[in-house]
Amino acid sequence: MICTEYFDTLRDGTPVLQFVLTDGNSTARILNYGATIQSLVVADKHGKPVDVVLGYRTVAEYEQNDGYLGAIIGRFGNRIDRGRLCIDGREYALYCNNNGHHLHGGRVGFDKKIWSHSIEGDALTLSLLSPDGEENYPGNLQVRVTYTLQDKELKIRYYALSDRRTAINLTNHAYFNLNGGRGSIKAHELWLDSDYITPTDENMIPRGAFREVRNTPFDFNTSKKIGKHIHAKDIDIQRGSGYDHCYLLKNTVGEYGKYAVVKSRKTGICMTCYTDMPAVQLYTGNYLSQRGKEGYYKKHAGFCLETQAIPNNVNVPAYAAKGSSIYEAGREYIFTAAYRFSAIEEE
Ligand code: BGC
Repeated sequence: MICTEYFDTLRDGTPVLQFVLTDGNSTARILNYGATIQSLVVADKHGKPVDVVLGYRTVAEYEQNDGYLGAIIGRFGNRIDRGRLCIDGREYALYCNNNGHHLHGGRVGFDKKIWSHSIEGDALTLSLLSPDGEENYPGNLQVRVTYTLQDKELKIRYYALSDRRTAINLTNHAYFNLNGGRGSIKAHELWLDSDYITPTDENMIPRGAFREVRNTPFDFNTSKKIGKHIHAKDIDIQRGSGYDHCYLLKNTVGEYGKYAVVKSRKTGICMTCYTDMPAVQLYTGNYLSQRGKEGYYKKHAGFCLETQAIPNNVNVPAYAAKGSSIYEAGREYIFTAAYRFSAIEEE
């Protein structure tokens, strides 16, 4: 069931709506501002409701929103080296908002837009038209993001279509904390089905290398606490101030499957993640330092699993070979990501 309610009003007077999705067990609140997941309430091991995503109570905080809490990111999730996008021999200078590089769509990304909405049964579809030249990207881009909440699973379906060759790499930037947004996520246990990360330079730009995770702090092929090696003396961990790295998933692009499981022993909540995208950015909230719904969010108060294509793949053929973000005019961009909640089975 989906109900539409008033959430708050933007500085310019525009009312912001929240859509309340319920499946009888869990409840998600999605805003038409940024197509943002504002809250996601699931039952803990005692049946008590726990809000497992970080967020804010007011839209003024979302207008600021350092850290992109819960928002849809576009046109391009993560970084593009010096904002350089070369298409058909022409260079498009994208806005550089992060140490001289393009991050999360630029100056006004999709996280700062009011999206149109339609509701069909249990499906909420948020859409927008990003005009040709917006943030300097070529092509009029139609974007649709469909949220459903069914059987304790929040599913996000991404769709985009351009009338010119362009770059598209959408993601959602929810920060999860299975303990209800309080305290650190370092004791959460993570299994992540990946053998390689894409190491970065000192500005967090991956430049073409793959690093094997075996025998490194990045290995989550056997479930371990997120905090176990988060302060390791490892060049990549130190550059990211924790995990802020793209993991190449084992599924072939377009093949939908399970790629991660996260558990909190404290609440007994287990989150299983699925996608058909080629990669995921594991980001452990290394720069969080802001007031949120539950109080102050400090470093490592939440973690993100941002499904995507490899950052900067528009400039690195070895990354594009694992799933290119360049789409021809008329070629549909269609991907899915889902987060399913259950109680930890006693082991
Ligand atoms: C990036 C981080 C960045 C964070 C918030 C993540 O997706 O990987 O480097 O700090 O978003 O902007």
